[in-house]
Order: sequence, then structure tokens, then C-alpha cells
Amino acid sequence: MKSIYDFQIKSKEEFEIVQDKSKKYPEVFWSEVAGAFKWNSVWDKVLESDWTIPRTKWFINGKLNITENCLDVHAKSTPDKLAILWEPNDPNADSQRITYEELLSKVCKFSNGLKSLGVKKGDRICLYMPMVPELTVAVLACARIGAIHSVVFAGFSSKALSARINDSKCRVLITADGAFRGNKIIDLKSICDDALLSCPSIEKTVVFERTLKKIKWNPKTDIRWDDLIQNMSEDCLPTIMDSEDMLFILYTSGSTGKPKGMVHTCGGYMVYTAYSFLNVFQYSPGDIYWCTADIGWITGHSYMIYGPLLAGATTLHFEGIPSYPNWDRFWNICEKYKVNQFYTAPTAIRSLAKHPKELISKYDLNSLKVLGSVGEPINEEAWHWYDENIGKNKLPIADTWWQTETGGILISSLAGVTDQKPTFATQALPGIVPELVDKKGEVLKDKSAEGILTITAPWPSIARTIYGNHERYKEVYFSAFPGKYFPGDGALRDTKGNYRITGRVDDVVIVSGHNLGTAPIENSINEHPGVAESAVVGFPHEIKGNALMAYVILYDFNLKTESLKDEIRTLISNSIGPIAKPDKILFVSGLPKTRSGKIMRRILRKLANNEFNDLGDVSTLLNPEVVEEIKGQF
Ligand code: WT7
Repeated sequence: MKSIYDFQIKSKEEFEIVQDKSKKYPEVFWSEVAGAFKWNSVWDKVLESDWTIPRTKWFINGKLNITENCLDVHAKSTPDKLAILWEPNDPNADSQRITYEELLSKVCKFSNGLKSLGVKKGDRICLYMPMVPELTVAVLACARIGAIHSVVFAGFSSKALSARINDSKCRVLITADGAFRGNKIIDLKSICDDALLSCPSIEKTVVFERTLKKIKWNPKTDIRWDDLIQNMSEDCLPTIMDSEDMLFILYTSGSTGKPKGMVHTCGGYMVYTAYSFLNVFQYSPGDIYWCTADIGWITGHSYMIYGPLLAGATTLHFEGIPSYPNWDRFWNICEKYKVNQFYTAPTAIRSLAKHPKELISKYDLNSLKVLGSVGEPINEEAWHWYDENIGKNKLPIADTWWQTETGGILISSLAGVTDQKPTFATQALPGIVPELVDKKGEVLKDKSAEGILTITAPWPSIARTIYGNHERYKEVYFSAFPGKYFPGDGALRDTKGNYRITGRVDDVVIVSGHNLGTAPIENSINEHPGVAESAVVGFPHEIKGNALMAYVILYDFNLKTESLKDEIRTLISNSIGPIAKPDKILFVSGLPKTRSGKIMRRILRKLANNEFNDLGDVSTLLNPEVVEEIKGQF
């Protein structure tokens, strides 16, 4: 049997051969890669795909459990190898080093605990946890018994949490008393208590004790993590899953109000995350790999848990934030653990770049071999700062473009193997076929072109549906350009076929790497009794990449006060989370609208960006005087 490492591409020539083969014979190509995993029974057909329905199925009738490939396989061959290195928020507290054998036992124990609560295959389990190893244990325990995990980032508000729990009718909530975040403590349990006032599907809440602060306790439904696992066996047979059974749901925000529960399935997701992890980061056995994301996002799922563990890698998880106790924490951790691959976001890079270089030079960063970036376009300045100061002008930088929906990285250089180019994500990975189109869907055939990015061929880790709403899945991703996947991003291509992602082409704004739909923010602003209407747009921000600006129409214009702005911010914070609070709120008497009543967001974006002289065609506006009024307010 081949190992997944046999599919790690080592040279540019090999990349070209593999890319060519994967395009010509995708089914042969992916079935060979899939052969590197342990299956309980092999698929009888590699692919069934029809994007007019839309439907995508990979490794049909294959049977497996992803945790056997993440854990049992390595616990058998390399039991003492470190799976997870955990660095706590407090640099003086104890870190943890968890081997593959230990991780397997922890996962089995918790799996048995979940079973004792009556959890079975197909049940949805919500996880709202700090970045502790128990979060990874809980994720894998769900996967082990075929329960579907839905991790909700622990920065979301109680309302956002209950909306996600209710959308997929989760039976169990797994949380903690609290989370340490820099010098703050976040009372997760009380946020859960609030959320659960409106979540009838939740039967039990498992509480991991992290902060040991006093919390409210509901003896009928709350169970301590330690009590749940106390008498549980360290063995738990994995539940055999079909390739196309659901593995997890992860919510992402979209252009309209409700969050979208993206559904990922077992077989294809396993094959693609492991393959892309090894190829993009060029991980070698023994390396220490560190991704600074939170497990609450797809980056955490695919490249902190599944991808690395499938490859038998050592993955470092950090509980804290880059500024605590000082802005040198990241470099301190890189030195402490001799990190080899370091994967972070442009917004973090821009914040770090604001601080004195002595905070970096204090540390020995010679272990670093590969740098990565994810979450938003990386601007020229941030790219060069990263290259010079962290990469010392000699390390490859993989700028990885992908989404919650794609499950894994689709466009990126393979670190040190294929060419890189500042601010360009560069080339599609093997098996990925990008195409640029114009607004009408005409394919842009010139080598060098700028337009809308689409993907024309199925890949194994594409999300299969939106939980409970296949129609919306079709509408959002497959109807703009029939037969093609539409990610919502614009891109340009150079003459060598390198792609640079230019940003969203829909009403989603990426703020500090967080994907925020403007519609849900507008909905929560409109909940204020004094607000008649609002429109939220993004504008460029030095550190966050983009920030939000809200234009708000009040019923009574005389009420425009700073305290009303605070009330609006609080409303948003309560309904979504602090990350969605606008930087600027402007009270206006009207919004620029077309004759058919549609808000001209293009104009609002330009105004927010101070591009007063470049508003484009305003002749179709019903109320051009509003534009003049808004200009006067800046
Ligand atoms: C959106 C997806 C991918 C995991 C984290 C975000 C933007 C992501 C890049 C990049 C330019 C990027 C896109 C994409 N994005 N990576 N390297 N260059 N833009 O996942 O929350 O689903 O957001 O993030 O706009 O569509 P997500």
C-alpha cells in the first residue's frame, strides 16, 4: 500500500506532470491518492457529478472512519509520536504534549462518554469551546461515532450560537466554563445559558472546566466533562461511515440573513485535506507545524486537525492571542517549539508589523522552513514584511486561497516547489480547474485577464450542500454561471497563469480575515426601534484589511447621537458578535437608490473609501441629492 507521502510533489517538473494527469484523468488520479488511506471497503465508483442539480459524490459506496486514519493508523505505527503540542494562553502555565497513542485513548474515552448520553450516528453536536486540546478531542470523538460536529467559534454571541444550534437541531452542546483570552476571561457557560433559553433540541450540555470560575449549574442538563469520562473505556470501535455520510457542518455567513451550514462529508474531505496539507506546506515527518487559526473556522478543521493528523504530523495549537503578554508571543512560541511551518493570516501579519523589530530579533527563528498566509488577499506591504522579517528573504511563502465551502486549499504555491509571486496565490492545486469569466459568464480566454473566478471541475472536498437548504446551495454557488462553481471572489491572471485574488464580488466583507455578510448586520441594526433603514459596506483598513461602515436612516433625524451609535454597536455585538461591529456609523437622511428601489452599494462603497470623484454612472439614481448630502458628512 502506498503512503500519502508518496503523493508529495517534490519538483516543478513533477508538479506539471501531476497537474496534467489530474486534469486529464481526475478519477484515476484521485483514486490513486485515496488508495493511501485505510478503507473498510473500497468505493465502487470514483465520481458522480452533475452541477446542474447540483450533486457531487466521491468514492461512492466506500466505507471508512476518518479517525482511524487520523489516529489508529499512527497510534499503531508511531505511538509515541507527538500529535498535538498545546501552548496555553499564560506563557508560565504548563503546556501539553499529546502523543498519537494518548490522543486515541482520550478520543475513545470521550466517544464512549457521548455514547452514554445516547448520542448516535447522524446526531448533530454543537461545540462552543476555547482552544484547548479537549476541543480537538471532542471533534474527533464525534467523528469516531458518526455524530456530526458543528463547531461554533467561541467569539460568537449567544444569539448567533442559538441560531446555529437550532438550524441543525443539535442534541448536545459541548462547552467550557470559560475561556482565557489574553488578560480576559470570557464566560462561555453563561453565553450558552442565554443561548439555550431558545434551543429546545439540546438535551445535555457537557462542560469542560478551564477557568474554574463559578458558573450557574443546571443539574438536570449539565454534565462535567470529567464526570462524563470518568469510568469510560479507552477503547471505542470506530463507527463505519459511508464516503458521502456527513462528517461535519460549519456555518459561514452569506449575502442574505441566515448563516449557511456548509456540509462536508467523510471520504472526499479526508483525501483532499491530507493531500493538500502535505503538498502546500511540504511537511516532512518530524516537523513541527503551527497554524495560528482558531478551530472554530475551516482553517482549524482542515489544517489544524484533519489534514495534519491524517499525515501523522505534529500540530501545534495555541490557546491565546498574538499580543499577550506581549507582541512577541508568536516568535517566542516559534523558538520554544522550533516551529518548521508557520501559517497565519494577513491581518495578524499587519498587526505584528506595527511593532518594533526587536520583538522578532530577540528570538531564534532558524527552525522555520515554510510560511503560509490565509483568509484574505495579502497586500504588497504585508507580503514583503513577512518575507523580509520572518522569512529572512529565503523562505517560501504559500498564499493559500480557499473557503469554508471548498474544504481545502484550491489555489496556492507548493512551498519551495512551485514559483511564488508576491500577492498572488499563484497556481491551482492538482485536480483544481479555475476559469475566469466576465459578468455575463463569457470565458476570458486571454492568458492575462481580470474577472470573476469560477471552478469548473469537481474536487473531493467541495461542500455537498447547505444543511437543510439545498435550494440555497444551488442558488448561491451554481446559478450565477450554470455548470460552474462560483466562489464569490474576483481574480486576475498573469501571462504565466498565476492567479491573484482581488476580493469579494458579492455582499460579503472580509474583516480581519472573518467572513461577514452585510445583510445580517443590517438586519440587526434595523432591529433598533429608532432605525428606519440601513446599509453596510466595507472600506479598506490598514490592519483589518477591510472595516465596516454603516449608513443608517433614523425615523427621527434629531436623535443622531453618539450614544445611539453605541446602542447600535451593542445590538450587532449581541446578535452576531463583536467582530461584526462597524468602525464607522453615519446617520443619513436617505440612501442612493435606483428607480426600482435597489440600494446602489457601489456608490456607498466608493463614498466610504473617499473616492468622491470617481462615483461612476449616477444617472440612474432616483435621489442624487442624497449623494451630495453624504459627501458633506465626511
Ligand atoms: C473567503 C473565504 C479559507 C479559510 C479562511 C477563510 C477570502 C481566503 C484568501 C487568500 C485572498 C482569500 C476569499 C474567500 N480568502 N483566503 N489567500 N487570498 N482571499 O474562509 O471564512 O470561508 O472565507 O476568504 O474571499 O472567498 P472563509
